[in-house]
Amino acid sequence: MPHWTPPVPASCASQPHSFAYESTKTRWPKILTGIVDELSKLNGQLSVQEEKDKLKEGKELIEKLSGLIYEIKTDKPILPLEDTGYPNDFEEYNQELERDSTMGQTWFSSTWLFAECYLYRRLRGFFATTTHWNQFDPFASQKLSTWKSSSSSVLQLSRTLNELVKKGKVTDQDELHRDWRIMMETMLWGNATDLSLLTSLTHEQIQELQSVERGREFTLRDDLEMAWEHVKDFKGERIDIVLDNSGFELFTDLVLADFLLSLTPFASQIVIHPKLIPWFVSDVQPHDFLILLDTLEDPQFFPSLTEDDISTLQELVTRWRGFISDGKFKLSVPASLKMGQSSVEGQEDRDKDIKMAEFWTSPSPFCDLPLVAPELLEDLQRSKLVIFKGDLNYRKLCSDAWWTPSGSFEDALGPLKGKITLLSLRTLKADTVVGLPEGKAEELDAKEKDWRVSGKYAVVSFSKRV
Ligand code: F6P
Ligand code: MG
Repeated sequence: MPHWTPPVPASCASQPHSFAYESTKTRWPKILTGIVDELSKLNGQLSVQEEKDKLKEGKELIEKLSGLIYEIKTDKPILPLEDTGYPNDFEEYNQELERDSTMGQTWFSSTWLFAECYLYRRLRGFFATTTHWNQFDPFASQKLSTWKSSSSSVLQLSRTLNELVKKGKVTDQDELHRDWRIMMETMLWGNATDLSLLTSLTHEQIQELQSVERGREFTLRDDLEMAWEHVKDFKGERIDIVLDNSGFELFTDLVLADFLLSLTPFASQIVIHPKLIPWFVSDVQPHDFLILLDTLEDPQFFPSLTEDDISTLQELVTRWRGFISDGKFKLSVPASLKMGQSSVEGQEDRDKDIKMAEFWTSPSPFCDLPLVAPELLEDLQRSKLVIFKGDLNYRKLCSDAWWTPSGSFEDALGPLKGKITLLSLRTLKADTVVGLPEGKAEELDAKEKDWRVSGKYAVVSFSKRV
């Protein structure tokens, strides 16, 4: 079976005025420079005598990062990846680099989706091959500080959910329908948190984007009712969430998972899929999931918590930990998995799960799922609904191409169409968009130049397995 190629051009940084161009030229060097600054700070805290090996590696990392910034800024050819240990996907990246003549050229002429995935994979390789920085997540401190600043929304949602849970399962179908919609919308707008946007927005602006009250007028396509028609008769099903960002967005994902398990008859298990390496700055890795639970439970983590706040959060986490031990909240890979591990001692039966999870940090768009990851596809087919969170997952669903905005979302899925029942919840942070009402894109083009990338608008797209 050959790879599927969309009938329209892919996003590419050589296209003037595109977000791909802006990102490649400005945002990526800024993100990488942020890591250099962080490393310089950490190196400065190391003892020259006692930690000289770590310091040496720290300096080498800075050199490699500076070299990478130079490669991007001067539009050098994209170099083949070297074997840097697990994930063992360097050959796949290199094949992809060679596969298409429009790709594999330089940082600006390659397709944007490939170049951006490659960027984060190459970055991981730098750290993976060190002794002392092997488990270093270059985005950890940003993730944590943004999460710390989310306390008021976290408390509000926790309180509401705890109260609902105390009342027990919702039996009235209209009430269930309404609550379900609100939960899905909360989860959707949670996606306005993307730390790679911190290069241009403040924490306050990001929080403003996250607010659900901003309303439905910003949802340019809303398939929630179609999804409801599919979900409303579920009885104890498996539902999957292909995660996006950690911190507040992950929190809203778990709130939805809790809602589905505690208050509805729909689900008996929620499987969540993290990434195995630091990815697009803020994406969830297994350790981020553990950090979220630990910080919710730590009375010192969020500023100025009252006794009442502390017990609200404790009640929530106790319930969530219970779900984890019952297997109702299930991470698709062992939660204790470290970066670079392909197996966890005592949990060897899950090696296959770890192998399958590699796909999420591969350069492949999701149209390639049937071709390159048939086992993962088969696993997802055991789920009654797969929820894809966020912008990058949407770009991958639609092969990050310049579709006619009013074209068919389902057709943009290519060979994935009809293979699984999926719901994509995405705030728009890149140019790709498809499935809008006729004339909508033109209307927005005329009044708001950056509507495709500002994070202010959203699309909710549903597609059913046939
Ligand atoms: O906005 C820039 C960007 O990094 C895009 O490159 C990418 O698609 C997106 O943000 C990541 O957003 P999300 O975290 O929603 O997938
Ligand atoms: Mg992300």
